Amino acid sequence: MKNNLYSLRDFGFEMNGSACQRAEEFQKFIDQQSVYDTKSYWIMAQSGVGASMKIDGKKVDAYISNDYLGMSQCQETIQAGIDALQKYGTGACAAQAIGGYLDIHHRLERDIADFVGQEDAILFSSGFGANAGFLRAILGKDDIAYIDSYIHTSASSGLYGTNTKHIGHNDAAYLDMILEKDKGKYATSLVIIDGVYSQDGDLSVLPEYISVCKKHNCLLMLDDAHGIGVMGENGRGTAEYFNCLGQVDFITGTFSKSFGSVGGFVAASTKLIQYLRYYADSNVFSAAITPQATCSILKALELIKSRPEIRQKLWDNVNYLRKRLGEEGFDIGKSVSPIFPLMVRDNKKVYDIADMLNKNGIFISGIVYPAVRTKEARIRISVLASHEIKQLDHLTTTLKRIREQIVF
Ligand SMILES: Cc1ncc(COP(=O)(O)O)c(C=O)c1O
Repeated sequence: MKNNLYSLRDFGFEMNGSACQRAEEFQKFIDQQSVYDTKSYWIMAQSGVGASMKIDGKKVDAYISNDYLGMSQCQETIQAGIDALQKYGTGACAAQAIGGYLDIHHRLERDIADFVGQEDAILFSSGFGANAGFLRAILGKDDIAYIDSYIHTSASSGLYGTNTKHIGHNDAAYLDMILEKDKGKYATSLVIIDGVYSQDGDLSVLPEYISVCKKHNCLLMLDDAHGIGVMGENGRGTAEYFNCLGQVDFITGTFSKSFGSVGGFVAASTKLIQYLRYYADSNVFSAAITPQATCSILKALELIKSRPEIRQKLWDNVNYLRKRLGEEGFDIGKSVSPIFPLMVRDNKKVYDIADMLNKNGIFISGIVYPAVRTKEARIRISVLASHEIKQLDHLTTTLKRIREQIVF
């Protein structure tokens, strides 16, 4: 075995050989996990995924879930799902375009579009499918996507048939310069940014992007997967936070985070959504989101609107943990959201820290390549409304003890 740790990069397409040979070689990556105590993927739980989980039969504190508002474990969202199962059965069992379009789907489209300040919305059975299918539908060989370096893979994966340019991160002046140079070259120009970045927890400079896009007559897509339900006075997302509701061309999102379920959506003008209903392949050629998920999401949305105290609890927890980690001198980058990157900058140390946390009853994600560059390897902490202060204290004191043994 080589001295360095293998990463997932070592066994991808860059390696020579057939798919079967690559799969055979990949055993080296799996084997190193038991040698170095680095098992961090495909860990099995015997419970729901929330602030506490049951792993290997033990209850542990968990910081890996995106269920920011605790909706996946809430009695009302669960009951709404049970009622839907009894009324509609276990699946829609057809694509929406050819009959799997239920009245509850229509209600969710209307409600989510209204919530994020757009005219209409279309649903997908995952957030990934929403981004990828939407982009495949609207961008072709004569078009271009200008992408922030930190957009999610689901968006990048929808861009294979079109032109792309990287625009750095949160650098609207650079975008302005490129758009000036590219004037008249492409039929459609689309800028793609996230509201809250999923690995660093920082925010987009949305108002600046809106004004540059307006200046150059360029469309703007905001993937607000981590912002909706969390950001803004009413949880309507990053656009509400910046007082820019209704000023973005496309808002995409997922129901697998603040809504505690699964599925995704694209919200935009009536005409663009109508177009997507016929051209977004991951909607048109895929079975509709299940009735249970749809009704649990509708209930979660109702709770997000009617119970601001749930979001307040989330922010109380976020502010508390930020203060505690700050007092202890931990580097959490530019995070201003419930996502805290605890910068370690070394793959092996990340694995070791995650393992030591685990031994202290804390389940947490070590984030290494390909999710982030190796020099940005980190522990990713995801804070939820359902965490208790004593859990956040236990996390801080455990990290402090670990830092006495591992420098980070
Ligand atoms: C920014 C962002 N967009 C889209 C997605 C995809 O959502 P889903 O996991 O619901 O398919 C994710 C998932 O982590 C994400 O972080």
